[in-house]
Amino acid sequence: MAEITTARGVIARNPGEPGVIEEFTIDAPQADEVLVRILASGVCHTDLSAKNGVFGTSGFPFLLGHEGSGIVERVGEGVTNVQEGDYVILAWRAPCGECRFCNVGKPHLCSASLNAHQGMRTMEGELLTPILGIGTFCTHTLVHSRQCIPVDKALPPEQMSLIGCGVMTGVGAALYSAKVEPGQSVAVIGCGGVGDSIIMGARLAGATTIIAVDIDPGKLESAKEFGATHTIDAREGDPVARIKEMTGGNGVNASFEAVGRAETIETAIMCRDLAGTCVIVGVADQQAMLNLPVAKFFDIGGSLRVSWYGDCLPTRDFPLLADWYAQGRLDLDRVVTRVITLEESEEAFHAMERGETLRSVIRL
Ligand code: APR
Ligand code: ZN
Repeated sequence: MAEITTARGVIARNPGEPGVIEEFTIDAPQADEVLVRILASGVCHTDLSAKNGVFGTSGFPFLLGHEGSGIVERVGEGVTNVQEGDYVILAWRAPCGECRFCNVGKPHLCSASLNAHQGMRTMEGELLTPILGIGTFCTHTLVHSRQCIPVDKALPPEQMSLIGCGVMTGVGAALYSAKVEPGQSVAVIGCGGVGDSIIMGARLAGATTIIAVDIDPGKLESAKEFGATHTIDAREGDPVARIKEMTGGNGVNASFEAVGRAETIETAIMCRDLAGTCVIVGVADQQAMLNLPVAKFFDIGGSLRVSWYGDCLPTRDFPLLADWYAQGRLDLDRVVTRVITLEESEEAFHAMERGETLRSVIRL
């Protein structure tokens, strides 16, 4: 029997308005779909951007949240990769296996990532758009089975939820997008949850000089705890000059931008050593424009690239990051600044805007 579930979640009805907790309905999982009971969800910047209408303006009403862990409650026909009771991290990249990228063995670039059918509705019957095809500020959500990555039940839901987006994005940017090598030097511009995850990734890769750049002294202090060897307060003068001073006049082998602003991208491009790699991780707004001295850029050589989701492959990388957490090599406890209730999600956005948190995590 097709059974409809009634769930509770945070719904953003109109751009700029606070998210409101409402009941909503979820269709029974169709073939290859899964109903997941959420245990924990990180509160990420992208949820705030969506709520404010900066990102995906046409999707209202949104079901907020896209960084979650939970329990598989019901599976549709034909699901083979998970079963009821499995403990999973949700991924917003689930390679289709058939697109032009999957077909040439590059599933991390999949252009047709799998999602469930749009089967969640407000109590008035209006279709809900789950953020990034997931929706995790809620008791239950409907996803494609391939978006579910099982992990060890002994690991805590709050920390595991963060692997689903911010932490994976940062660690993957260092490991896969920049391919940081042992002994290299790295600069990370912007040390929020994503920047600190880049720092952890750079340390795991064996970087020996890790320069953290931020405008908030508190963020620089926590960056050191994640593994930064040097810090720069960008309000105290040109960070490019300071980075060069700290690297024998040369600049870094790899630079990362994790703010999402044109000026900080320019800093990241110019602070590299010859042949260095610059990776853009921050999401800029539609108006941002780069001011690039082309001859200088050419003279540095190397590469400039964008990293989405840390170029990760969730089936490979979520269990890896979970193992590293279990072994004490990835300090996710320190990323979880606050554990909150669903009712406190709006306050968590304000705390994020005030720079008080690396991550608030909603515990259901
Ligand atoms: N120079 C250096 N650091 C800056 C500057 C600046 N001009 N402006 C802001 N910052 C710092 C903030 O102080 C903060 O520590 O950048 C950091 C941004 O962190 P968060 O707001 O916590 O965002 P986070 O979740 O880490 O995401 C960063 O990556 O994936 C993207 O969408 C995400 O664009 C966002 C970025
Ligand atoms: Zn594909």
